[in-house]
Amino acid sequence: MPRTRPTLIAGNWKMYKTIEESKEFLATLAPLLEKSQGLPLVYLAVPFTAIYVAAEWVKERGVAVVIGAQNMNEAQEGSFTGEIAARMLLEAGARFVILGHSERRHLFQESNSWVNKKVKRALQAGIQAIVCIGETLQERKEGRTEEVLKEQLLGSLEGLVKEELEQIVLAYEPVWAIGTGKVAQVEEVESAHLFIRKVGGEQWGKKIANQMVIQYGGSVKPDNAKELLAQPDVDGLLIGGASLSPESFMKIIQSTPGVVS
Ligand code: PGA
Repeated sequence: MPRTRPTLIAGNWKMYKTIEESKEFLATLAPLLEKSQGLPLVYLAVPFTAIYVAAEWVKERGVAVVIGAQNMNEAQEGSFTGEIAARMLLEAGARFVILGHSERRHLFQESNSWVNKKVKRALQAGIQAIVCIGETLQERKEGRTEEVLKEQLLGSLEGLVKEELEQIVLAYEPVWAIGTGKVAQVEEVESAHLFIRKVGGEQWGKKIANQMVIQYGGSVKPDNAKELLAQPDVDGLLIGGASLSPESFMKIIQSTPGVVS
């Protein structure tokens, strides 16, 4: 049966690119996108400072790129020095936010219940959430991959109702593959995605689980994107390093089945 889920290619710029650099990137990417047909959904998670300018840039030119953020605070507003609220992101033009990225889980001690609060707030504000889950190398070596994925999945999405679950995109990102150049074997990726969908099905019903877009992330490059996207349960990619150059990002976009350039 052909896949009915949309393909979603998302770039995560992390703490790279100023406003000027963001505009230069978009000015190079836009004509490449315009030359292509059958494009997947293209998302870009840019630094906070570039959201407004990038969102205006694509809106004014009608470029099919959705701009989003990489984190946010779970409170509606308040005395939280240095934090940013969902409604501020929305006003600036962000339409999605990456939550629970492993860099936030590990460097900033974000727990599943904390991620869960952020997810709820984002959805309440009308922002779609890309929720990241993934095991460390240690956990994989100990044979705990599935246990960790299940715990992160159910913990991060706890208490969500059907309409909220429909707004969720999942990203399976094995921590050991992020920024390391060590991409997971496609079979490992497919089996993790299948497992995530199975757990989702048991928890929320098959219909919701079958509709959920599950991206893979971790050392995705132009030369491995095609093989990953060919897996039946890999519905998209979340790309760090290779999304910083418009040319390599475009090559990955072009790896989506059906794109004609
Ligand atoms: P990478 O990062 O593509 O540079 O490995 C992926 C991510 O952190 O989302």
